[in-house]
Amino acid sequence: MALQEHKFFYQLFAHWNQLAEPDQKLVEHAVLAMGKAYAPYSKFKVGASVLLATGEIICGSNQENIAFPSGLCAERVALNYVGANHPEIEIDTLCIVAEGGLMPDEQLLSPCGACRQVMLESENRQKPPIRVIMVNQDQRTMIVLSVADLLPFGFGKQA
Ligand code: THU
Repeated sequence: MALQEHKFFYQLFAHWNQLAEPDQKLVEHAVLAMGKAYAPYSKFKVGASVLLATGEIICGSNQENIAFPSGLCAERVALNYVGANHPEIEIDTLCIVAEGGLMPDEQLLSPCGACRQVMLESENRQKPPIRVIMVNQDQRTMIVLSVADLLPFGFGKQA
């Protein structure tokens, strides 16, 4: 049986200050959002910013709860807000940043599986792909051009 191959492209930057100016602005919003994270249990603070097609930027941060599963990741706080308040507006880019001891410093940041599924639903609700900018604790930055790249064979509509 022939093996199939799946490829995707991603960009790596040593620091987010190497990004284009509009992307830097998005990172700055995510960093501000990270400052509002409520993460007393994990101490892992995450900030998310979403650039809409209108130019508006929506932010979110992780919100934990003493009943652990009741908490929510930053990406889902932001994307659920977009779904609830701007369901007709397309999403251009999602940016996430994080800090806290949970990951080794050098590890690139990438979203949890549940967030990938929610991000995929946002992408599938619109025509254009959603870019994702991920900034880790030492500012190293990875960009993928589509959520589908982060969740190959994701559950839902295939492109
Ligand atoms: N978290 C996020 O906000 N986004 C992710 O993609 C992964 C995890 C949060 C959830 C929890 O508050 C903390 O990080 C530790 O898992």
